[in-house]
Amino acid sequence: MELRSLGSTGIKVSPLGLGTVKLGRNQQVKYPSAFTLPDDGQVLGLLDLARELGINLLDTAPAYGSSQQRLGRLLGARRKEWVIVSKVGEIFENGESHFDFSFEHTVSTVEQSLLTLNTDYLDCVLIHSDGDDLRILEHEGALDALRELKRRGLVRCHGMSSKTVEGGLRVVQEMDVVMATCNLDYNDELPVLEAAQAQGKGVLIKKGLMSGHVQGQSAVRDSFAHIFSQPGVSSMIVGTINPVHLRDNVSLLEQVLRGFT
Ligand SMILES: NC(=O)c1ccc[n+]([C@@H]2O[C@H](COP(=O)([O-])OP(=O)(O)OC[C@H]3O[C@@H](n4cnc5c(N)ncnc54)[C@H](OP(=O)(O)O)[C@@H]3O)[C@@H](O)[C@H]2O)c1
Repeated sequence: MELRSLGSTGIKVSPLGLGTVKLGRNQQVKYPSAFTLPDDGQVLGLLDLARELGINLLDTAPAYGSSQQRLGRLLGARRKEWVIVSKVGEIFENGESHFDFSFEHTVSTVEQSLLTLNTDYLDCVLIHSDGDDLRILEHEGALDALRELKRRGLVRCHGMSSKTVEGGLRVVQEMDVVMATCNLDYNDELPVLEAAQAQGKGVLIKKGLMSGHVQGQSAVRDSFAHIFSQPGVSSMIVGTINPVHLRDNVSLLEQVLRGFT
């Protein structure tokens, strides 16, 4: 897969990224069916396959259960082959989520992720919104903390996984990357994508397969065609622990992108 620019960050990402919720968390998730976490051999196989297929982008978060511990342990010296996106703000403990967007918590979360992921830099850190995007950006310390962490060289770029149009538009003004939702049933955030393209900011798409409610090759292909016909999409993050789905997704997306040229 041909790499794309992540806005003006200088980072190049594959148009398909691998979401890693399902590597570490199977409680309080919204997928259509229950699942068992893959074992280490299966995770290693999935990571090797993803690289072989041209995927270089991993999306993780401290709130994804053991996702970061497992990646830190299993990536080893191959960490540099990946662009790693992590998050701050959501804490998942004892089966429940809560949120802390303070300056101090943001800094300590990034420092902990660096240790857990066994690395000295994170390529991108996103604020994991609780839905109140503007309040977080205007009244909490997370944005200033990420700017400071970027100055210190611990974070190459920053952004927000936002949930509202107003929030997404503010992210585009203030930060490097926006993670927005777009799929066949939900297009409310398209103005955010347009603004990001106009201002040279990176765009990551989440929930493009409606968290697993899109089923079958033709519906997956239609979803990819819909998302990649929107302006400015750098990469779509798809979570899968099924190697057959991973291969299908790369091949279907390549077909779609070839059709655009
Ligand atoms: N959901 C959120 O609130 C959120 C927020 C921020 C970031 N993210 C990031 O975005 C990633 C994706 O979001 P998401 O997991 O909510 O949604 P998604 O990528 O739309 O859906 C993932 C689901 O789709 C299934 N799937 C993948 N490829 C498939 C195929 N070819 N055919 C049929 N089913 C397929 C996966 O099941 P199999 O494992 O069986 O393939 C998985 O259950 C997450 O992993 C995370 O890294 C999500």
